[in-house]
Amino acid sequence: MPHMTAFARNQWYVAAYRHEVGRAGLLGRTVLGEPLVLYRTEREGTPVALHDRCVHRRYPLSASRLDGDRVVCGYHGFTYDPTGTCVYVPGQKRVPRTARVAAYPVAERDSLVWVWIGDPARADPETIPRARHLDSPGWVTVRGMEPIDADYGLLVDNLLDLSHETYLHGGYIGTPEVAETPITTEVDEGAGIVRVSRHMDDAACPPFYARSTGIEGRITRRQDIEYHAPCLYLLHSRIAPVGARPAADGDGPDGFRTEITYAITPSAAGKVYDFWLVSRDWATDDTEVTEFLRDNNHTVVRQDVDALNLLQRTLGGERTGYQELSINIDTGGLAARRILARLVEEGDKPVERVR
Ligand code: FES
Ligand SMILES: [Fe+2]
Repeated sequence: MPHMTAFARNQWYVAAYRHEVGRAGLLGRTVLGEPLVLYRTEREGTPVALHDRCVHRRYPLSASRLDGDRVVCGYHGFTYDPTGTCVYVPGQKRVPRTARVAAYPVAERDSLVWVWIGDPARADPETIPRARHLDSPGWVTVRGMEPIDADYGLLVDNLLDLSHETYLHGGYIGTPEVAETPITTEVDEGAGIVRVSRHMDDAACPPFYARSTGIEGRITRRQDIEYHAPCLYLLHSRIAPVGARPAADGDGPDGFRTEITYAITPSAAGKVYDFWLVSRDWATDDTEVTEFLRDNNHTVVRQDVDALNLLQRTLGGERTGYQELSINIDTGGLAARRILARLVEEGDKPVERVR
């Protein structure tokens, strides 16, 4: 298949938002090609992720119902506990020993529900990268999720090179200065982090920020990307009117801090979930600003979705072995590809057993 980035299996991935996993219903999601059903236990409120196929005739458990902490298959009633063990079958006393579905390690952090599809012995929730602004007092977040029919590598490329804002998102978040300003890239190979920065000293204020902040003139604008491969992408966005004083913390000019977060979760071959969030610590009581940012960013994300759907269809019609031509703006994306390739390779190696 053309343009398919391999999956790094021994990694944490965002499967859902906290509010999507509850008691009211069963949520079906597919992560790295594994169909999952997600719900929450009644008393502890712990999220559970089970394989979404009944062992009997493979009916999707996500189309079934909860009975306390158990999932009752909607077809013939096989019943599973939160460990995936089948505890009841109809018409006989004896439950076959092999009647169980996989239960995946799950962890909840910063309003995100993370799952681990690979070897459960390697799952350490302490290694989950954090996005504390998503669940901290003083911050307001709008969010959404769009499934895209594209290789997840195309979304990684897209997010690591924001020069596309000028062309694809003109009139929303793009202005000429984004594409004109060179980037700096830093790679922490060991930690699997790529940082891409673009600092604009004197730029037009795009409508996304002009209308939400009320800034009328030109701005200094900083975009500092921090990509924690494979799943979590943070964009620290700082804007201030040109000439504003530096902030006390030295973190850019004293202006508006906006945190743009993405979770890039490969769903299946050629499919990716695009979780997007916009957080701010300014005008937090202003619901008009909240709704504007939600609508505006949703439009921006849909522009990317349309572009990536088109790109994937186009690549799908190409002969294999086509050439790309990379330039400076691609440095971050190329570094991300290298890290992803390494994570795939390392994930394939057996764990060293400690005696
Ligand atoms: S398919 Fe689930 S009980 Fe038959
Ligand atoms: Fe975009």
